[in-house]
Amino acid sequence: MKTLIIYTSQTGFTKRYAEWLAERMSGDLLDLKNAQKKSADYFKDYDAICYGGWAMAGNIVKCKWFLEKAVNWKNKRLAMFCVGGSPNDNPDVEIFLQNALTDEQKKYIRVFYCQGGFNYEKVV
Ligand SMILES: Cc1cc2nc3c(=O)[nH]c(=O)nc-3n(C[C@H](O)[C@H](O)[C@H](O)COP(=O)(O)O)c2cc1C
Repeated sequence: MKTLIIYTSQTGFTKRYAEWLAERMSGDLLDLKNAQKKSADYFKDYDAICYGGWAMAGNIVKCKWFLEKAVNWKNKRLAMFCVGGSPNDNPDVEIFLQNALTDEQKKYIRVFYCQGGFNYEKVV
């Protein structure tokens, strides 16, 4: 399965998860900034595309780009992951995941939470 992992990361936690996923899936890895430079053709051959963004005030950073593209990628396996400072067992995480996608988007995208952390030195 040809897999692509796209991510946005401010302090490195989401990048690390994206690297682990790409390694595990023998997939390709792209920073969102580079993904945005690619033409539609670039994504055509991927069987699975996953987007990872960090949690900011209850939202997945820059997921709008992925969600807009995903409408045309329904023939692929699609997933999204969010990396936040909250522990995995924080009850807010479940609510967060429920609200991340519309009912329609839930039909073709799966969403996951991964615990990151806080790196205050790198937050600008
Ligand atoms: C402005 C701001 C808002 C944040 N909001 C949330 C949040 O709503 N939920 C959460 O779990 N973590 C939140 N965090 C924590 C980050 O998601 C966390 O530090 C994450 O690991 C950062 O990922 P990165 O290293 O890939 O940038 C917030 C951090 C910042 C700076």
